[in-house]
Parts: sequence; C-alpha cells; structure tokens
Amino acid sequence: MPANPNIPVIAIDGPSASGKGTVAQLVADKLGYHYLDSGALYRIVALAAQQQQVIWSNAQALGALAKALNISFKDGEIYLNDALITELVRTEEIGRGASEVAVHTPVRAALLDLQHNFRTPPGLVADGRDMASVVFTDAKLKIYLTASVEVRTERRYKQLKSKGLNADYDKILADLQQRDLRDSARSASPLIQTPDALLLDTTQCDIQQAVDFVLIAYKKLA
Ligand code: C5P
Repeated sequence: MPANPNIPVIAIDGPSASGKGTVAQLVADKLGYHYLDSGALYRIVALAAQQQQVIWSNAQALGALAKALNISFKDGEIYLNDALITELVRTEEIGRGASEVAVHTPVRAALLDLQHNFRTPPGLVADGRDMASVVFTDAKLKIYLTASVEVRTERRYKQLKSKGLNADYDKILADLQQRDLRDSARSASPLIQTPDALLLDTTQCDIQQAVDFVLIAYKKLA
C-alpha cells in the first residue's frame, strides 16, 4: 500500500532521450505539482560510486552506497554531501554508469523510499523507467512516452551541440541502442509499457503537443 494514496501521481516512463524529462517538468509546472526525475537518482549513485572507487558492477557495495546517500534537491540543483553536482551527473559517461548500476536489485530497493518521499501535496509528476510498473503502481495517469531511436539521437545530438559540447551522431546512436537494450532486457524493473499506460509517440510531435496530450488525458480523469 502506498504511503500517501490520496496524493495524485502522473507516471511518465520511456527510453533515454525521449523527452520525457522535459515533458514531465512542464506538466508539473502547469499543474503546480512536484517533479521527480528518478533517473537523476541512478545517475547520483553512479557518480558517488565513481568518487568512492566502487565499480558499477558491484551490486552489494552499490546497494550499501545508495542507502547511505546524502542528497538534497534545491531550486533545480542537486547536491551530494553538500557539493553541487547538477552538471556532473548529466554527462554521457554518468548516464551510461546509471544504466549499469540500475540493473542491480539492491540499488533499486535502496532508492524506493527516497522516490516515495517525493509524493507530497498537491501532487507529483514522476519520470523514469519503472514509475508505472513498480514505484507508483497506483498512479492516476500512466504515460509511456517514446520516439524512434533516430529522432532521439538527433535530439540528443542537437542538445549537446547547443551546449558547445562534442557530439558524434553514430556514437550517440550506438549508445542509445545499447542503453535501450540494457534497460528493457534487465530482470530488475525493466522498462515496459504497462497495459494501463497511454502510449505517447513523439517521433512526429513537438514538446508542446506532448505536454498538451498529457494535460488533456489528465483533465479527462477529473
Ligand atoms: O532518465 P535518465 O537517462 O537520466 O536515466 C539514466 C539511467 O537510469 C537509465 O538509462 C536507466 O538505466 C536508469 N533508470 C532506471 N529507472 C528509473 C530511471 C532511470 O533504471 N526509474
């Protein structure tokens, strides 16, 4: 039974670079709800492990590390042991590390309470891979947001370029394909579209259309 069953949750799951984070944040802003970027938690575990020289394949050590994390979120920034890490967790390397540490059951278990704690009034929009299937199974609205891997690669490529960073289309494509496979094929909380989730394919639509789709679907439930 969830700790706060009366507080509404909108769960948005989907593969890497599908735009779900941006859509989830905008929906949360529009509704005045809280926002949980659950991927950031796995990224933080990967970064903390790197800093403490724990390898990303050591399930038990990573589980203990995840349990003991001292994280805070303030004004859109992320702090680990009071050090600002917002930019550090967003690198491609830490994204890859996140998908490696996320396969371990002890890590997923350690992050569960942390995620449930985001469910506070007036409501929550949560994005990730297992928001609908595991973490918030009683979510009022469940969305599976995806786009073709080519379009996702293109978006990630432009995003990196616009930040003045190095971007190699073929490398990004290969990396996304590898991450899709790892996220969908793992035994612990794999990425799936639950039967009660609405499919939102953004291959041919922009962010605003995706946000409107979610808001309209949510309004219909009221
Ligand atoms: O969403 P983002 O790309 O930041 O997530 C990084 C990685 O964390 C994903 O590739 C996935 O392996 C993992 N993750 C997860 N479950 C979630 C959110 C993210 O396994 N709910």
